[in-house]
Amino acid sequence: MFKDKNIILGVTGGIAAYKSVEIASRLRKAGASVHVIMTSGAQNFITPLTFREITGNPVVTTMWGEVTNYNVEHIALAELADAVIVAPATANFIAKASAGIADDMLTTTLLAVQAPVFFAPAMNTNMYNNPLTQGNIKKLTALGWHFIPPAAGHLACGAEGVGRMPEPVDIVEFVHNWFSRTMDMSKLKVLVTAAGTHEPIDPVRFIGNRSSGKMGYAVAEAAAARGADVILVSGPSSLEIPCGVNAIMVQTAAEMRKAVLENYNSADIVIKAAAVADYRVRNISDQKIKKNDDELILTLDKNPDILKELGELKQPGQILVGFAAETQNLIEYARQKLEKKNLDMIVANDVSRKDSGFNSDTNAVKLLFRNGQVEEMPLMSKKEVANQLLDRVLSLKQ
Ligand code: PMT
Repeated sequence: MFKDKNIILGVTGGIAAYKSVEIASRLRKAGASVHVIMTSGAQNFITPLTFREITGNPVVTTMWGEVTNYNVEHIALAELADAVIVAPATANFIAKASAGIADDMLTTTLLAVQAPVFFAPAMNTNMYNNPLTQGNIKKLTALGWHFIPPAAGHLACGAEGVGRMPEPVDIVEFVHNWFSRTMDMSKLKVLVTAAGTHEPIDPVRFIGNRSSGKMGYAVAEAAAARGADVILVSGPSSLEIPCGVNAIMVQTAAEMRKAVLENYNSADIVIKAAAVADYRVRNISDQKIKKNDDELILTLDKNPDILKELGELKQPGQILVGFAAETQNLIEYARQKLEKKNLDMIVANDVSRKDSGFNSDTNAVKLLFRNGQVEEMPLMSKKEVANQLLDRVLSLKQ
């Protein structure tokens, strides 16, 4: 997995810096070319020489030194990188990165890099739990950067709690798992729905909801990146269609139902992230309704439940995943939907949270399975939620 990959290992000034030597060693043994960038703080804990010996590559310690034999100029390492791992990532470094500061080689590289970025935070528990640090982590998570959750236990400062850098073996495995997702969905046809439907009232008005499409588009994008043949049935959304995805744009629940049913039989996996309007207007006016009266009464008819219909038509081997957007009794309501709609998995979405659900870039979800298992996921970017969800779907398919 790591063979011939260029991995940038950023080491910042925390006591756990000594453990990064093992990360470098494991990566190199796995076939990666490891390029270490140390902050000045890191050099108080460990010498560049140690990393140079372990990696066989020059170690970058400053932006202002002599250009080394492999041309480490300014953003050259950012262009070379297949991944960046920052371990340990101190509170100070996370804050600088989230502010977009580029005052040393590591922050500069991170600003320029296009490759996936992994942070392994390590700090005192109170510093980790501080809303400022958590806000910075949230901001970077929303950009799609990955945070490897710190471990709990005895910290160097004497305190007990969460904040210890994960073990090198776990950090390397986390990144390995991320890479091993590549193309693991080729030969699979995935049908995804996204965004909210619009139910017209007259030529200028409609009944809609707050779904932006971000969650469903993230699923479609992740599945396509993993090699799946993806059909995205989307309600109105301002998002760009992800690369490699075939999109069918619809307006109403009835149109979404038609497009989904037409593509259902050939789909191996169906993921319904769309927020479908439960009701539609019975008499849609041909002309713009004039505001002559003090009140306007609209009669609404119930829309068909597309997901329930799919559950009834499900063929052996097909995997059907629903979402449940709830503001209360999250688990209970999600479980009822899982049973009633004959789903294999449901993603329970607490949409009362600001950082989760409609239109946010992050999501905190719980995954419910048919065997009663509930898996609680931490707050992460919708892209990461999408990948985690696809990981679970693939394990259900085996
Ligand atoms: O698009 P974003 O801004 O990123 O927001 C994402 C999201 C909050 C919309 C998404 O994560 C989510 O939770 N989607 C489901 C929203 C919803 O309508 O939930 P529901 O509990 O009403 O419906 C349950 C399931 O049945 C959903 O999979 C829905 O697609 C499906 N359904 C609902 C009604 C209907 N008539 N037909 C359906 O197929």
